[in-house]
Amino acid sequence: MIEIAPLRPTVAEIDLSALEFNVGQLQKKIGPHASIMAIVKANAYGHGDVLISQRLEKLKVPFLAVAYLEEGIRLRGHDIKTPIVILTGGQDPKTFSELYQYRLTPVFYHLDFLIAYNEFCKKKNKKGEVHLKFDTGMNRLGFTLESSYKLFKLIHKFKNIKWEGMMTHFANAERPSHYNQEQILLFRKLKKLCPLKFKYTHMANSGAILNNFGVNENLVRPGIALYGAYPALTLKEKLELRPVMTLKSQVIQLKKVKRGAYISYGYTYHFKKDSIVATIPVGYADGFLRYFSNKGEVLIRGKRAPVVGVVCMDVFMVDVGHIPGVCLGDEVVLIGKQKKDQLRVEALAERAQTVPWEIFCHISSRVPRVSK
Ligand SMILES: Cc1ncc(COP(=O)(O)O)c(C=O)c1O
Repeated sequence: MIEIAPLRPTVAEIDLSALEFNVGQLQKKIGPHASIMAIVKANAYGHGDVLISQRLEKLKVPFLAVAYLEEGIRLRGHDIKTPIVILTGGQDPKTFSELYQYRLTPVFYHLDFLIAYNEFCKKKNKKGEVHLKFDTGMNRLGFTLESSYKLFKLIHKFKNIKWEGMMTHFANAERPSHYNQEQILLFRKLKKLCPLKFKYTHMANSGAILNNFGVNENLVRPGIALYGAYPALTLKEKLELRPVMTLKSQVIQLKKVKRGAYISYGYTYHFKKDSIVATIPVGYADGFLRYFSNKGEVLIRGKRAPVVGVVCMDVFMVDVGHIPGVCLGDEVVLIGKQKKDQLRVEALAERAQTVPWEIFCHISSRVPRVSK
Protein backbone atom coordinates (compact mmCIF):
# COMPACT_ATOMS: atom_id res chain seq x y z
CA MET A 1 0.00 0.00 0.00
CA ILE A 2 1.26 3.48 -0.81
CA GLU A 3 1.28 5.77 2.26
CA ILE A 4 0.66 9.36 1.16
CA ALA A 5 1.78 12.19 3.41
CA PRO A 6 -0.77 15.03 3.47
CA LEU A 7 -0.28 17.07 0.31
CA ARG A 8 -3.37 19.24 0.34
CA PRO A 9 -3.61 22.20 2.67
CA THR A 10 -6.74 20.86 4.35
CA VAL A 11 -6.13 19.02 7.62
CA ALA A 12 -7.87 18.14 10.84
CA GLU A 13 -5.25 19.05 13.41
CA ILE A 14 -5.58 16.85 16.48
CA ASP A 15 -4.34 18.33 19.74
CA LEU A 16 -3.44 15.32 21.86
CA SER A 17 -2.56 17.49 24.85
CA ALA A 18 -6.16 18.76 24.79
CA LEU A 19 -7.33 15.13 24.80
CA GLU A 20 -5.11 14.48 27.80
CA PHE A 21 -6.50 17.57 29.54
CA ASN A 22 -10.09 16.44 28.90
CA VAL A 23 -9.41 12.95 30.25
CA GLY A 24 -7.96 14.55 33.39
CA GLN A 25 -10.95 16.88 33.75
CA LEU A 26 -13.44 14.03 33.36
CA GLN A 27 -11.55 11.85 35.83
CA LYS A 28 -11.52 14.73 38.34
CA LYS A 29 -15.23 15.29 37.83
CA ILE A 30 -16.22 11.63 38.38
CA GLY A 31 -13.80 11.09 41.26
CA PRO A 32 -11.47 8.23 42.05
CA HIS A 33 -14.19 5.58 42.54
CA ALA A 34 -14.90 5.34 38.81
CA SER A 35 -12.91 4.54 35.68
CA ILE A 36 -13.29 5.69 32.11
CA MET A 37 -14.35 3.63 29.13
CA ALA A 38 -13.38 5.95 26.28
CA ILE A 39 -15.71 5.87 23.30
CA VAL A 40 -13.60 5.80 20.14
CA LYS A 41 -16.18 4.49 17.67
CA ALA A 42 -16.68 6.07 14.24
CA ASN A 43 -13.00 6.89 13.86
CA ALA A 44 -12.98 8.43 17.35
CA TYR A 45 -15.82 10.74 16.34
CA GLY A 46 -13.84 11.69 13.25
CA HIS A 47 -10.67 12.53 15.20
CA GLY A 48 -8.64 9.52 14.03
CA ASP A 49 -9.21 6.33 15.99
CA VAL A 50 -5.60 5.12 16.00
CA LEU A 51 -4.09 8.47 16.95
CA ILE A 52 -6.63 8.95 19.74
CA SER A 53 -6.47 5.36 21.02
CA GLN A 54 -2.68 5.38 21.12
CA ARG A 55 -2.75 8.44 23.37
CA LEU A 56 -5.54 7.03 25.55
CA GLU A 57 -3.53 3.84 25.94
CA LYS A 58 -0.49 5.90 26.95
CA LEU A 59 -2.70 7.65 29.51
CA LYS A 60 -3.69 4.22 30.84
CA VAL A 61 -7.41 4.71 30.22
CA PRO A 62 -8.55 1.18 31.13
CA PHE A 63 -11.17 0.57 28.39
CA LEU A 64 -11.87 1.65 24.85
CA ALA A 65 -15.21 1.08 23.18
CA VAL A 66 -16.31 0.99 19.55
CA ALA A 67 -19.62 0.13 17.93
CA TYR A 68 -18.59 -2.57 15.48
CA LEU A 69 -16.11 -5.43 15.33
CA GLU A 70 -14.25 -4.06 12.32
CA GLU A 71 -13.42 -0.94 14.32
CA GLY A 72 -11.93 -3.04 17.11
CA ILE A 73 -9.99 -5.25 14.70
CA ARG A 74 -8.55 -2.15 13.04
CA LEU A 75 -7.28 -0.89 16.41
CA ARG A 76 -5.71 -4.27 17.19
CA GLY A 77 -4.08 -4.09 13.75
CA HIS A 78 -2.40 -0.91 14.97
CA ASP A 79 -1.13 -2.61 18.06
CA ILE A 80 -3.62 -1.18 20.54
CA LYS A 81 -3.53 -3.51 23.54
CA THR A 82 -6.13 -1.89 25.85
CA PRO A 83 -9.33 -3.93 26.35
CA ILE A 84 -11.82 -2.99 23.63
CA VAL A 85 -15.57 -3.33 24.15
CA ILE A 86 -17.84 -3.80 21.11
CA LEU A 87 -20.95 -1.85 22.03
CA THR A 88 -23.31 -2.80 19.22
CA GLY A 89 -22.09 -5.44 16.79
CA GLY A 90 -20.26 -7.99 18.91
CA GLN A 91 -22.89 -10.54 19.76
CA ASP A 92 -23.50 -12.31 16.44
CA PRO A 93 -22.36 -15.96 16.72
CA LYS A 94 -20.98 -15.76 13.16
CA THR A 95 -18.27 -13.46 14.45
CA PHE A 96 -17.33 -15.13 17.75
CA SER A 97 -14.06 -16.39 16.28
CA GLU A 98 -13.07 -12.76 15.49
CA LEU A 99 -13.93 -11.72 19.04
CA TYR A 100 -11.67 -14.47 20.28
CA GLN A 101 -8.84 -13.90 17.81
CA TYR A 102 -8.66 -10.15 18.46
CA ARG A 103 -9.46 -10.21 22.20
CA LEU A 104 -12.54 -8.04 21.87
CA THR A 105 -15.20 -7.88 24.56
CA PRO A 106 -18.81 -8.18 23.39
CA VAL A 107 -21.89 -6.47 24.76
CA PHE A 108 -24.87 -8.85 24.76
CA TYR A 109 -28.51 -7.93 24.62
CA HIS A 110 -29.96 -11.22 23.29
CA LEU A 111 -30.22 -14.26 25.52
CA ASP A 112 -29.81 -16.77 22.68
CA PHE A 113 -26.56 -15.20 21.57
CA LEU A 114 -25.28 -15.18 25.14
CA ILE A 115 -26.09 -18.90 25.41
CA ALA A 116 -24.21 -19.46 22.14
CA TYR A 117 -21.22 -17.46 23.43
CA ASN A 118 -21.09 -19.56 26.59
CA GLU A 119 -20.95 -22.67 24.40
CA PHE A 120 -18.27 -21.10 22.19
CA CYS A 121 -16.12 -20.22 25.22
CA LYS A 122 -16.60 -23.72 26.63
CA LYS A 123 -15.18 -25.19 23.43
CA LYS A 124 -12.24 -22.80 23.66
CA ASN A 125 -11.80 -23.77 27.28
CA LYS A 126 -11.92 -20.19 28.46
CA LYS A 127 -14.10 -17.77 30.38
CA GLY A 128 -15.26 -15.00 28.08
CA GLU A 129 -15.70 -11.51 29.49
CA VAL A 130 -18.99 -9.87 28.59
CA HIS A 131 -20.98 -6.74 29.28
CA LEU A 132 -24.76 -6.98 29.32
CA LYS A 133 -26.86 -4.10 28.12
CA PHE A 134 -30.20 -3.31 29.74
CA ASP A 135 -32.89 -1.16 28.23
CA THR A 136 -34.08 1.29 30.84
CA GLY A 137 -36.13 3.54 28.60
CA MET A 138 -34.48 4.25 25.31
CA ASN A 139 -36.17 1.33 23.56
CA ARG A 140 -33.12 0.81 21.41
CA LEU A 141 -30.77 -1.99 22.53
CA GLY A 142 -30.81 -3.99 25.72
CA PHE A 143 -32.62 -6.57 27.82
CA THR A 144 -36.00 -5.23 28.84
CA LEU A 145 -37.26 -5.76 32.38
CA GLU A 146 -39.33 -8.75 31.17
CA SER A 147 -36.44 -10.39 29.31
CA SER A 148 -34.17 -9.71 32.30
CA TYR A 149 -36.30 -11.96 34.55
CA LYS A 150 -35.65 -14.85 32.17
CA LEU A 151 -31.96 -13.97 31.92
CA PHE A 152 -31.52 -13.74 35.71
CA LYS A 153 -33.14 -17.15 36.21
CA LEU A 154 -30.56 -18.71 33.91
CA ILE A 155 -27.55 -16.61 34.73
CA HIS A 156 -25.89 -19.11 37.09
CA LYS A 157 -25.77 -21.67 34.29
CA PHE A 158 -23.27 -19.76 32.19
CA LYS A 159 -20.12 -21.36 33.53
CA ASN A 160 -17.86 -19.99 30.82
CA ILE A 161 -18.85 -16.36 31.11
CA LYS A 162 -17.03 -13.73 33.15
CA TRP A 163 -19.50 -11.03 34.15
CA GLU A 164 -17.52 -7.91 33.53
CA GLY A 165 -20.10 -5.19 32.96
CA MET A 166 -23.74 -4.31 33.40
CA MET A 167 -24.77 -1.22 31.50
CA THR A 168 -27.55 0.98 30.25
CA HIS A 169 -27.68 4.14 28.15
CA PHE A 170 -29.47 7.44 28.76
CA ALA A 171 -31.90 8.67 26.14
CA ASN A 172 -31.64 12.34 27.05
CA ALA A 173 -28.60 12.96 29.20
CA GLU A 174 -28.10 16.52 27.97
CA ARG A 175 -31.13 17.65 29.92
CA PRO A 176 -31.77 16.70 33.54
CA SER A 177 -35.35 15.43 33.71
CA HIS A 178 -37.57 12.84 35.33
CA TYR A 179 -36.80 10.50 32.39
CA ASN A 180 -33.19 10.25 33.53
CA GLN A 181 -34.31 9.55 37.08
CA GLU A 182 -36.65 6.83 35.87
CA GLN A 183 -33.80 5.21 33.95
CA ILE A 184 -31.57 5.37 37.03
CA LEU A 185 -34.29 3.81 39.22
CA LEU A 186 -34.89 0.99 36.75
CA PHE A 187 -31.15 0.30 36.49
CA ARG A 188 -30.93 0.13 40.29
CA LYS A 189 -33.84 -2.27 40.34
CA LEU A 190 -32.17 -4.48 37.73
CA LYS A 191 -28.95 -4.48 39.75
CA LYS A 192 -30.91 -5.63 42.80
CA LEU A 193 -32.77 -8.30 40.86
CA CYS A 194 -29.61 -9.67 39.29
CA PRO A 195 -28.38 -12.63 41.33
CA LEU A 196 -24.74 -12.00 40.36
CA LYS A 197 -22.42 -9.12 40.90
CA PHE A 198 -20.77 -7.56 37.88
CA LYS A 199 -17.26 -6.17 38.17
CA TYR A 200 -18.38 -2.90 36.57
CA THR A 201 -21.70 -1.12 36.26
CA HIS A 202 -22.02 1.83 33.90
CA MET A 203 -24.55 4.29 32.58
CA ALA A 204 -23.11 7.76 32.13
CA ASN A 205 -22.19 9.28 28.77
CA SER A 206 -20.80 12.81 28.47
CA GLY A 207 -24.12 14.58 29.13
CA ALA A 208 -24.74 12.56 32.29
CA ILE A 209 -21.18 13.15 33.55
CA LEU A 210 -21.49 16.89 33.01
CA ASN A 211 -24.92 16.95 34.63
CA ASN A 212 -23.67 14.74 37.44
CA PHE A 213 -26.09 11.85 37.28
CA GLY A 214 -25.52 8.13 36.75
CA VAL A 215 -22.00 8.75 38.01
CA ASN A 216 -22.17 6.65 41.17
CA GLU A 217 -21.38 3.55 39.14
CA ASN A 218 -17.74 2.48 38.89
CA LEU A 219 -17.39 3.09 35.14
CA VAL A 220 -18.45 5.94 32.84
CA ARG A 221 -18.51 6.12 29.04
CA PRO A 222 -17.65 9.59 27.73
CA GLY A 223 -17.45 10.18 24.01
CA ILE A 224 -17.98 13.74 22.81
CA ALA A 225 -16.51 15.32 25.99
CA LEU A 226 -13.20 13.55 25.42
CA TYR A 227 -12.95 15.48 22.19
CA GLY A 228 -13.58 18.75 23.98
CA ALA A 229 -17.10 19.32 22.70
CA TYR A 230 -20.25 19.73 24.77
CA PRO A 231 -23.45 17.81 24.01
CA ALA A 232 -25.08 21.24 24.17
CA LEU A 233 -23.48 24.65 24.65
CA THR A 234 -25.64 25.13 27.75
CA LEU A 235 -23.36 22.60 29.50
CA LYS A 236 -20.23 24.66 28.91
CA GLU A 237 -20.19 26.00 32.45
CA LYS A 238 -20.22 22.53 34.00
CA LEU A 239 -16.62 21.64 33.18
CA GLU A 240 -13.77 23.18 31.26
CA LEU A 241 -12.94 21.09 28.21
CA ARG A 242 -10.52 21.89 25.38
CA PRO A 243 -11.46 21.25 21.75
CA VAL A 244 -9.19 18.55 20.32
CA MET A 245 -9.81 19.20 16.62
CA THR A 246 -9.02 22.23 14.51
CA LEU A 247 -10.22 21.84 10.94
CA LYS A 248 -8.23 24.14 8.72
CA SER A 249 -7.39 24.88 5.13
CA GLN A 250 -6.03 27.70 2.98
CA VAL A 251 -7.21 30.23 0.42
CA ILE A 252 -6.43 28.78 -3.04
CA GLN A 253 -7.96 31.48 -5.20
CA LEU A 254 -9.00 35.11 -4.79
CA LYS A 255 -11.10 37.05 -7.23
CA LYS A 256 -12.91 40.33 -7.49
CA VAL A 257 -16.62 40.10 -8.15
CA LYS A 258 -18.92 42.83 -9.37
CA ARG A 259 -22.19 43.89 -7.81
CA GLY A 260 -24.96 41.73 -9.29
CA ALA A 261 -22.61 38.77 -10.01
CA TYR A 262 -23.75 35.26 -9.10
CA ILE A 263 -21.62 32.52 -7.61
CA SER A 264 -21.37 28.72 -7.61
CA TYR A 265 -23.83 26.11 -8.93
CA GLY A 266 -27.42 27.13 -9.31
CA TYR A 267 -26.86 30.89 -8.91
CA THR A 268 -28.21 30.86 -5.37
CA TYR A 269 -26.32 33.98 -4.26
CA HIS A 270 -25.76 37.28 -5.94
CA PHE A 271 -23.58 40.12 -4.73
CA LYS A 272 -25.28 43.31 -3.60
CA LYS A 273 -21.99 45.21 -3.96
CA ASP A 274 -18.54 44.72 -5.46
CA SER A 275 -16.52 42.35 -3.32
CA ILE A 276 -13.71 39.79 -3.13
CA VAL A 277 -14.25 36.06 -3.04
CA ALA A 278 -11.88 33.44 -1.65
CA THR A 279 -12.08 29.81 -2.73
CA ILE A 280 -11.36 27.19 -0.07
CA PRO A 281 -10.38 23.62 -1.04
CA VAL A 282 -12.89 21.81 1.16
CA GLY A 283 -16.21 20.44 -0.05
CA TYR A 284 -19.05 18.25 1.00
CA ALA A 285 -16.93 15.22 0.06
CA ASP A 286 -14.72 16.27 2.97
CA GLY A 287 -17.68 16.65 5.29
CA PHE A 288 -18.30 20.38 5.00
CA LEU A 289 -22.04 20.05 4.76
CA ARG A 290 -23.89 21.35 1.72
CA TYR A 291 -26.25 22.69 4.34
CA PHE A 292 -23.66 25.43 4.96
CA SER A 293 -24.36 26.85 1.49
CA ASN A 294 -25.10 30.55 2.07
CA LYS A 295 -25.22 29.80 5.84
CA GLY A 296 -21.79 28.78 7.14
CA GLU A 297 -18.80 30.92 8.01
CA VAL A 298 -15.06 30.47 8.43
CA LEU A 299 -12.23 32.42 10.05
CA ILE A 300 -9.64 34.22 7.94
CA ARG A 301 -7.19 36.66 9.53
CA GLY A 302 -9.20 36.28 12.74
CA LYS A 303 -12.41 37.55 11.09
CA ARG A 304 -15.56 35.74 10.07
CA ALA A 305 -16.13 35.24 6.36
CA PRO A 306 -19.57 34.03 5.22
CA VAL A 307 -20.02 31.15 2.77
CA VAL A 308 -21.46 32.46 -0.49
CA GLY A 309 -23.20 30.19 -2.98
CA VAL A 310 -23.59 26.46 -2.64
CA VAL A 311 -20.86 24.27 -1.20
CA CYS A 312 -19.44 22.10 -4.01
CA MET A 313 -17.98 18.59 -3.71
CA ASP A 314 -14.37 19.80 -3.38
CA VAL A 315 -14.47 23.54 -2.70
CA PHE A 316 -16.60 26.38 -1.40
CA MET A 317 -16.38 30.15 -1.58
CA VAL A 318 -16.49 32.85 1.06
CA ASP A 319 -16.90 36.62 0.83
CA VAL A 320 -13.76 38.34 2.13
CA GLY A 321 -14.55 41.84 0.86
CA HIS A 322 -14.65 43.15 4.46
CA ILE A 323 -11.31 41.58 5.50
CA PRO A 324 -8.27 43.68 4.59
CA GLY A 325 -5.19 42.07 3.09
CA VAL A 326 -6.41 38.51 2.42
CA CYS A 327 -3.74 36.67 0.39
CA LEU A 328 -3.42 33.38 -1.42
CA GLY A 329 -2.30 30.74 1.09
CA ASP A 330 -3.92 32.47 4.08
CA GLU A 331 -5.01 30.05 6.78
CA VAL A 332 -8.74 29.32 6.90
CA VAL A 333 -10.24 27.82 10.07
CA LEU A 334 -13.50 25.89 9.65
CA ILE A 335 -13.67 24.50 13.18
CA GLY A 336 -11.48 25.92 15.93
CA LYS A 337 -9.67 29.05 17.01
CA GLN A 338 -7.94 31.73 15.01
CA LYS A 339 -6.59 34.83 16.70
CA LYS A 340 -9.27 35.91 19.20
CA ASP A 341 -12.24 34.21 17.59
CA GLN A 342 -13.38 30.61 17.68
CA LEU A 343 -15.81 28.58 15.60
CA ARG A 344 -17.16 25.96 17.95
CA VAL A 345 -18.53 22.71 16.62
CA GLU A 346 -21.60 23.07 18.85
CA ALA A 347 -22.46 26.41 17.21
CA LEU A 348 -21.90 24.96 13.73
CA ALA A 349 -24.17 22.08 14.62
CA GLU A 350 -26.88 24.42 15.84
CA ARG A 351 -26.62 26.40 12.65
CA ALA A 352 -26.96 23.23 10.56
CA GLN A 353 -29.84 21.99 12.73
CA THR A 354 -27.86 18.96 13.76
CA VAL A 355 -25.63 17.86 16.65
CA PRO A 356 -21.84 18.12 17.14
CA TRP A 357 -21.51 14.32 16.88
CA GLU A 358 -22.78 14.43 13.29
CA ILE A 359 -20.57 17.35 12.25
CA PHE A 360 -17.48 15.44 13.45
CA CYS A 361 -18.55 12.12 11.94
CA HIS A 362 -19.07 13.71 8.53
CA ILE A 363 -15.43 14.77 8.24
CA SER A 364 -14.39 12.23 5.67
CA SER A 365 -11.35 10.04 5.17
CA ARG A 366 -10.13 12.49 2.52
CA VAL A 367 -9.12 14.90 5.28
CA PRO A 368 -5.81 13.89 6.87
CA ARG A 369 -5.78 13.81 10.68
CA VAL A 370 -2.50 15.27 11.84
CA SER A 371 -1.39 15.28 15.45
CA LYS A 372 -0.23 18.53 16.94
C1 LIG B 1 -23.64 3.08 24.44
C2 LIG B 1 -22.95 4.40 24.38
N1 LIG B 1 -22.27 4.84 25.44
C3 LIG B 1 -21.63 6.03 25.44
C4 LIG B 1 -21.66 6.85 24.33
C5 LIG B 1 -20.95 8.18 24.38
O1 LIG B 1 -21.85 9.21 24.31
P1 LIG B 1 -21.36 10.74 24.34
O2 LIG B 1 -20.64 10.96 23.06
O3 LIG B 1 -22.64 11.49 24.41
O4 LIG B 1 -20.52 10.90 25.53
C6 LIG B 1 -22.37 6.44 23.20
C7 LIG B 1 -22.44 7.30 22.04
O5 LIG B 1 -23.24 7.28 21.18
C8 LIG B 1 -23.03 5.17 23.22
O6 LIG B 1 -23.71 4.73 22.17
